[in-house]
Amino acid sequence: MATLINGKEISATIRNEIKAETEDFVKKTGVRPGLAVIIVGEDPASQVYVRNKKRACDEVGFYSESYELPAETTQEELNALVDKLNKNDKIHGILCQLPLPKHLNENEVIMRINPAKDVDAFHPQNVGNIMIGDYSFLPCTPAGVMALLERSGIEVNGKKCVVVGRSNIVGKPQAMLLLHANGTVTICHSRTKNLAEECRAADILVVAIGKADFITGDMVKDGAVVIDVGMNRRADGKLTGDVDFASVEPKASYITPVPGGVGPMTITMLMQNTLTSAKNSVK
Ligand code: GUN
Repeated sequence: MATLINGKEISATIRNEIKAETEDFVKKTGVRPGLAVIIVGEDPASQVYVRNKKRACDEVGFYSESYELPAETTQEELNALVDKLNKNDKIHGILCQLPLPKHLNENEVIMRINPAKDVDAFHPQNVGNIMIGDYSFLPCTPAGVMALLERSGIEVNGKKCVVVGRSNIVGKPQAMLLLHANGTVTICHSRTKNLAEECRAADILVVAIGKADFITGDMVKDGAVVIDVGMNRRADGKLTGDVDFASVEPKASYITPVPGGVGPMTITMLMQNTLTSAKNSVK
């Protein structure tokens, strides 16, 4: 039987810490951290994320603005909004919810956000800083995973870590953070030969490939720590991870559930980055 890593609880604890730190910071400086969230179109999943981000801002005492733009928004209009937010002193973090509708260029938007307000840490300057290991903005989801490990007392130092998935948002930065924590890291992906064997070697297995119930019990070593970053909708509308919980849980020492594992941590790390940005702005 694995110990469940409760992301909701850990997230609530960290948000309370951020809230206290924010109160203190506002008192000292008169500056309230501010986050702007942009969403283009009506993707229901994105709308839920954006609502949750707004709620999290209220919870920790941040100022926030939401921009819900129609699906037909042009690149020029989106660029103009980013330019305006870059200049707005009340805004310390700008997040443009991805994916964008097909006619818009995501890279152009990422490149346009002032790196000092890029609380997603998607701009190449921030990505580069993460690679070097000298960074102020955390890559949100991977940093959420690291916080779950740390607060559950799970040591990374010297461990064999396998990351399944190589996206820019999760897989690649996750591998870097595990490496910075002295893990021995392997990145696996859809073309990996003997994927099951690679996964079975892991002391810590982080899965972010976006395929429902993909990792099964036979792919996991006895006593492994299993972190499920997946968020997939089943046909019946239920949320499920990339890990087949029923067959993996009996083998793992620790496991994250979906929902209630990594999910809540991503937004918490976004709050952390927004506070960091506000602090940087008064330095
Ligand atoms: N879409 C899915 N995850 C994310 C995220 O962390 N940031 C942004 N901007 N869009 C996303």
